[in-house]
Amino acid sequence: MAAAQLPTVPVPVELPALGPGTYFNEIQWQVLFSIIDAVIPSIVIDSAAEKNENHHLQISQSQCNESYEYIQQVTSHPPAFEEFVEYLGARPLENQLFLCQVRRMLDNLPPQLKRQLGGLLSLLATRLGSLAATGYITPIHEQPVRIREAILRSWQGSWFKIWPVLAKSIMTLTRICWAQTDHYFHRLNGYIDYPRHYQPGPAFAFGFMQFGEGSEPEAVDTDVVIVGSGCGGAVCAKILAEAGHRVVVVDKGYYFSPSQLPMRPDAGHEYLYEAKGRMQSTDSSMSILAGSCWGGGGTVNWSVSLQPQGYVRQEWADQGLEFFTTAEFQHCLDRVCEVMGVSDAHIKHNHGGRAILEGARKLDAKPCPQNTGGAEHYCGHCVLGCGSAEKKGPTVSWLPAAAKAGAQFIEGFNVSEVLFDHTDGNKQATGVFGKWTSRDEHGQVHTPEAGRIQKSVYLKAKKVIVACGTLQSPLLLMRSGFENPHIGRHLYMHPVGMVNAAFDDVINGWEGGIITSVCTSFENLDGKGHGVKIETSAMVPHLALFNHPWHGALQWKLNMLRYRQMNTFISVARDRDTGRVYPSPDDSQPVIAYTPSDFDRAHILAGQVAIAKLCYIQGATEIWPFVADVPSFVRRQRRTSSAGTTGAADEKSDGDNVDNIDQGINDPDFAAWLRVLQGANNRPPLTSFSSAHQMGTCRMSAREADGVVDPRGRVWGAGNLYVADASIFPSASGVNPMITTMAIADWIAQNVSMDLKRAK
Ligand SMILES: Cc1cc2nc3c(=O)[nH]c(=O)nc-3n(C[C@H](O)[C@H](O)[C@H](O)COP(=O)(O)OP(=O)(O)OC[C@H]3O[C@@H](n4cnc5c(N)ncnc54)[C@H](O)[C@@H]3O)c2cc1C
Ligand SMILES: *[C@@H]1O[C@H](CO)[C@@H](O)[C@H](O)[C@H]1NC(C)=O
Ligand SMILES: *[C@@H]1O[C@H](CO)[C@@H](O)[C@H](O)[C@H]1NC(C)=O
Ligand SMILES: *[C@@H]1O[C@H](CO)[C@@H](O)[C@H](O)[C@H]1NC(C)=O
Repeated sequence: MAAAQLPTVPVPVELPALGPGTYFNEIQWQVLFSIIDAVIPSIVIDSAAEKNENHHLQISQSQCNESYEYIQQVTSHPPAFEEFVEYLGARPLENQLFLCQVRRMLDNLPPQLKRQLGGLLSLLATRLGSLAATGYITPIHEQPVRIREAILRSWQGSWFKIWPVLAKSIMTLTRICWAQTDHYFHRLNGYIDYPRHYQPGPAFAFGFMQFGEGSEPEAVDTDVVIVGSGCGGAVCAKILAEAGHRVVVVDKGYYFSPSQLPMRPDAGHEYLYEAKGRMQSTDSSMSILAGSCWGGGGTVNWSVSLQPQGYVRQEWADQGLEFFTTAEFQHCLDRVCEVMGVSDAHIKHNHGGRAILEGARKLDAKPCPQNTGGAEHYCGHCVLGCGSAEKKGPTVSWLPAAAKAGAQFIEGFNVSEVLFDHTDGNKQATGVFGKWTSRDEHGQVHTPEAGRIQKSVYLKAKKVIVACGTLQSPLLLMRSGFENPHIGRHLYMHPVGMVNAAFDDVINGWEGGIITSVCTSFENLDGKGHGVKIETSAMVPHLALFNHPWHGALQWKLNMLRYRQMNTFISVARDRDTGRVYPSPDDSQPVIAYTPSDFDRAHILAGQVAIAKLCYIQGATEIWPFVADVPSFVRRQRRTSSAGTTGAADEKSDGDNVDNIDQGINDPDFAAWLRVLQGANNRPPLTSFSSAHQMGTCRMSAREADGVVDPRGRVWGAGNLYVADASIFPSASGVNPMITTMAIADWIAQNVSMDLKRAK
C-alpha cells in the first residue's frame, strides 16, 4: 500500500454480493417489507400533494406543528422546519442502503430462523391467518401504513406470544438497519461513522502463511498450534514464542489493518463478528455479540481492563482451584496488564463516564482502567475496530510480539477437528485439521470463496491449544469426538439490561472512551457475589438503539432527533444461572440456549432502577428503560427556550443534590414512575437482553467428573490438548472478562512451555 498520503477516513472494506434471496417468495417479501415499512414509515402532512396512504403515514398540519414545537423545546440543535418535514417524510424503503442492509441481515439468519419467519409471513398473507393475527381479513401487506402501524402496536400487547415476538424481531431489524443507514438521522444529529480527526495507526506486517493451488492437502509441522487469535490465543502465542517454541496461530477470521478501522457497521458485522453479528438465543431473549476476526474479541472489545475481584477468585479457589488466590496468579494478572499499558491515569471521561462517577458519588464508582498503553484514546468507535491502534489488543501488542519471537500465522483457517494418536491406549493430540481460504488476487475477502484458493491443511504439533472462545471451543471439542457432558454447558453470559436517557447537554456519546467508569454498589445483591455492575455503553447508533422502545412511528422518529443528547447505560449481571451451547443440526453453527433466570433478571432490574435514579440526578429529561410495558419517564419541568442552556442548572439548584442517590424520590412523578419500573415484569422474550461476555462452556475443575479441563488447562481424558480462553472460567467473572481470560491464558501457557522444555 502506498504510504504517501494518510487517509482521513477509513478505507472502506467491500462487502460480498447479496444472495438471490430465494428463501422467501414474492409474497413473503411483500409481507415482510410492509411490516418493516410500518415500523419506520414516511410520515407526511395529510394535506401534502403526494400523499398516498399505502406509502405514507399521515398526520395533521397541527400535529406536525406541535411535534416541531416539541422538538424545538427538547433539542439543543433543532432542525429548520423544512428539514424536520423532510426527515419525517423520508421513507427507509426508498433508501437503497437500508434495503441492502435488511437483505444482508436476513441472508445471514440461521436457516431454521428463516424457516420460522417465512412460515409466519406466509400465514399472514392468507385471509384466515390474517384474521387470526390482525383481526382483518385483508392481509397486512394490502393495508395502509396507518393500519399496519396499529397492528404492530396491538401485537406488542398480544396475549398470544408469537405476535409480540415477531413484532419485536422485525422492529429490531428495522431499527438496526435504519440507525446504520439513515442520512437524515445522521446529519441532524451530527453523527459520522468514524472518529473526528481520524488518523490510522501503523499496521503490523503479520506475513500470513500462504499455500499454493492444488488439491493435495498441505502439512505443516510445529511445536504448538493455537486455534483462535483472540484474547486467550494471543497471550499464549506471545509467551510460548518468546520461550523459544515454534508456534503457529490460526484463526478463521481475517486481519484488517488500522487504516480499514473502524469499519462501517455493515462491514463490521460481516467481518469482525461471530455469525456476522446476528446471534440470538433460541428464545430470542438475548442478542449476543462475540468477536471473530484476527484478534477475536480483542479487536472489537471496549478496552475495559478490570481484574477479577477477590470474592470471585475465592469462589473459584473454593472449588479446588487454589491457584486463583495465589500470588502466582496475581502475577499473571499484573503481567498482562503491564503488557497492554492498562491504566486509569489517562482517561478523559465523556458524558456517560462522568455521569456514573458523579451521579453515583455516594455509591462505589471508580474510573475503569483501559488497555490503551497510556494514551488518552478518546474514541468511541472501537467496537468496529480501532483505527488508531492505540487500543493494545491482540493485533497490536500480543501477536506482533509473538511474531518478533518467530511465531507464524494463518488467517482464514477454519479448524474442523483436533487430531489424535491412540497408540498405547492414551488419547494424545497430534495436531489439527482444517480448511484454509485465501484472499483473492487483490487481497480482498468479499469475493466468492469458490474463486479463491481453498486448501485442506494438517497442522502437526506437540501441543494443541484451543482458544476459539466460549461459543466455538466446545463445538470443536465435540467435533473432535469428546463426549464429556460438561462440554457446552455452564454457559454464563453476563446478561445486560439497558437504559437510554436524554439530557439537556449535547453529549455526542459516540465520541470519547466507551466505558471509562464503573459503579460497583450493586454487585453483590445476594451475599454470594451475584448482582450487577453499572457501566456506559458504546454509542454507535445501532448498538444504542436496536431496542429503544417503539410505541409508534412518530414517537420513534421524534425520539431519534434527540440522539446527540442521549446516553446509554447498562446493568451488567454476574449471572448465577446458566445456559448451553451446541451445534445446530442445520449448519453446525453454535445454537445458544440461554434465558436469563428470574433470579438474575431481578438483579438486572435493580440495576436499571439505580441507573434511572443516577440519570435523574444528572438531570435527564427523559429516561427509557428497555423493559417491556414500562413507559419512559418524562421530566415535567424542562427548559423553556430552545436556545437556553441553563435549564439543567436551574433544576439542580431547586432540589436535586448530586450527593444523594435517593434525592429523586422527592419528585412525586419520578417516585411513582420508579414504582412502576420496580414492579415491572421483565420476562423474556418481550423484554430483551444482550451479551458481549460469554464464559464457562469448557469449565475448569479440580476433578474430572466436574468439568472439561484440569487446573493446568489440559482437557480431561486427553494428552497434549489444552483450552485457554474464556470458556474455562469456573463461573462468571463478574468483571468484563478480557483480563481474566488473558491471565488464565498466561498461566496455562507458562505451564505448556514448562512441559515442552521438560520433554526436550
Ligand atoms: C463488543 C464487545 C465488547 C467487549 N468489551 C470488553 C471490554 O471492554 N472488556 C473486557 O474485558 N471484555 C470485553 N469483551 C469480552 C472479550 O472480548 C471476550 O471475553 C474475550 O475476547 C474472550 O477471549 P477468548 O480468547 O475466549 O475468545 P475470542 O477473543 O472471542 O477469540 C476466539 C477466536 O477464535 C476464532 N475461532 C473460533 N472458532 C474457530 C475455528 N474453528 N477455527 C479457527 N478459528 C476459530 C474466532 O474467529 C475468534 O477470533 C467484549 C466483547 C465484545 C463482543
Ligand atoms: C404550522 O406551521 C407552519 C409553518 O410554521 C405555518 O405556516 C402554519 O400556519 C402552521 N399551521 C397550523 C395549523 O398551526
Ligand atoms: C468451519 O468448519 C466447521 C466444521 O467443519 C463447519 O461446520 C463450519 O461451517 C465452518 N465455518 C466456516 C466459517 O467455514
Ligand atoms: C503449572 O501447573 C502446576 C500444577 O497446577 C503448578 O503447580 C505450577 O506452578 C504451574 N507452573 C507454572 C510455570 O505456571
